[in-house]
Parts: sequence; C-alpha cells; structure tokens
Amino acid sequence: MGFAIAAPNVTSVSALKGDPKKGKDAYHTCALCHTPEGWGTEEGNYPQLSGQHPNVLIKQLIDIKMGNREAPTMIPFSDDIFDQGHQSVADVVSYITTLPMTPKNSVGNGDNLKLGKELYTKQCQSCHGANAEGNNEKSFPLLQGQHYEYTFRQILWIKEGLRNNGDEKMRQSIAAFSDTEIRAVADYISRIKPDKNKVAESTDWQNPDFHDDFVSVPANAKNKK
Ligand code: HEC
Ligand code: HEC
Repeated sequence: MGFAIAAPNVTSVSALKGDPKKGKDAYHTCALCHTPEGWGTEEGNYPQLSGQHPNVLIKQLIDIKMGNREAPTMIPFSDDIFDQGHQSVADVVSYITTLPMTPKNSVGNGDNLKLGKELYTKQCQSCHGANAEGNNEKSFPLLQGQHYEYTFRQILWIKEGLRNNGDEKMRQSIAAFSDTEIRAVADYISRIKPDKNKVAESTDWQNPDFHDDFVSVPANAKNKK
C-alpha cells in the first residue's frame, strides 16, 4: 500500500510518545466529523472517540488504512495522517485521549435490558470487561458511553461480515444473534456508565481548543441537550 517505511502495527505506533500539542492541529480535521469534543453524533454515524483506549484508536486507524475495516468516509483521513508519518498518528491519538467523554450518549428504547445483560455477561464481558471498559493492553475496545446506534450497527456489521477486522471469536458468538438480541445487548451496553473522572462535567462542555465558529460536517453534530 505504498509505505515508504515499514507497515504500521499497534506495537510500533504505541511505542512512540505522542505529543498532544501537535496532535491538536491534526485533530482539527477529525473534529469535522467526530466533533471538537470527540463525542461523535447521537444518531451513531460518527462514533465517540473520547475515552477510547489509545491502542484501540491506533489499531482502528491502521485497520482502516490497510483496508482491514471498511469505513469509506474515513479512508482519506487515515491515509492523510499516515502519510504524515507514524509519529503524527501517535500525536493525534495522544490528543484524543485528553478529551473527556460525553455525559449524554444515546441509548436504546429500554425494552429488553434483562436479556441484554444476560447476553453481555455470558458472551461479551470476558473480553470487554464487566463494565464494558475494554482493555488497552489487548486492544479490546471500551464500549461504555458509546452511542447506542453506533454500537448496534457495529454488532450488526460484525455479524453480517461487513466489518472484516472483527475478532473471530466475537463474530462466532454474535453469529446466532437475532435482531432483538443485537438491539438488547447494544441497549444494555449503552447504559453502562463510564467512571465520573472520564466524563465532562456538563453536556454544555465545549472543547476550548477550537473556535466558537467551528463548523462541523454533520449539521446536528453538537450533542445538544
Ligand atoms: C468525513 C468524516 C470523518 C473524518 C474527517 C474522520 N472520521 Fe474517523 N470515522 C468516521 C466514520 C463514519 C467512522 C465509523 C465508520 C464505521 O461506522 O465503521 C469513523 C471511525 C473512526 C475510528 C474508529 C472508532 C471505533 O470506535 O472503532 C477512529 C479511531 C477514527 N475514526 C479516528 C479518526 C481520526 C483520528 C480522524 C482525523 C485524522 C478522523 N477519524 C477523521 C468519519 C470520519
Ligand atoms: C474474544 C474476545 C471478544 C468477545 C468475546 C467479544 N468481543 Fe467485541 N471486540 C473484540 C475485539 C478484539 C474488538 C476489536 C476488533 C477490531 O479491531 O475491530 C471488538 C470490537 C467490538 C465492537 C466495536 C467497537 C467499536 O468501537 O467500534 C463492538 C460493538 C463489540 N466488540 C461488541 C461485542 C459484543 C456485543 C460482544 C458479545 C456478544 C462481544 N463484542 C464479544 C473482542 C471480543
């Protein structure tokens, strides 16, 4: 894929010490979709990045860059950041990890939370953790605090083979899920609260690093109350 230097992997990129000051400049582009706060959008087109483990952010950027994860709208931006060098990837990731999470991620309709909890406990928590907190070391994503519709769609795509980097064991456990079960487990996950110290004080919090007149691509990008 035209790398002048060795193809990236999570270990080589995470070994670089990221500079959040430099990463802030690179993040300006990302903010167009992921919002200046890194909160993504409630309807789930753009995932929240804030709160996610650095190794997970790095792995997803690599997978998108290398064509292991289909995310067409992201490709020009993952290409661009890798073209600037692995250090730029480390920088932007280190900036993202300074951002607090939204206090108000979207959740499901609450109809099947008991079923969702059962499925999660039996089939998901061994990797994603009791509170869906993930695991940086193993690049298991944090799922808590993410928007319901995004989580729902990822599970569906993993089941349908549309997200090709999905963990194989996970794909097998999701393969037999009905639509109701996918919605139930996504709903349950969306209601697991992150630690208070990871979350912004208020839904009105705005990232002071970006100007007030910042215009983002999704018209409803600001997670208004
Ligand atoms: C034009 C819109 C757009 C821009 C700009 C953009 N992204 Fe994304 N990004 C997306 C979309 C859409 C997805 C989700 C793809 C999917 O649903 O599978 C995504 C997913 C991601 C993910 C995976 C998240 C997860 O939970 O797995 C990471 C990491 C990411 N983007 C980082 C970045 C960074 C860093 C930048 C800037 C260098 C950036 N994005 C710029 C649209 C964008
Ligand atoms: C064997 C370990 C394992 C199990 C069990 C597992 N997962 Fe995962 N999950 C992963 C890994 C690893 C990834 C990241 C894969 C990648 O790089 O795309 C992931 C990614 C995800 C994502 C995408 C997160 C994002 O930010 O894009 C969702 C949603 C998810 N898992 C939900 C579930 C659910 C629901 C279950 C239970 C039915 C489950 N997982 C079971 C390991 C697991």
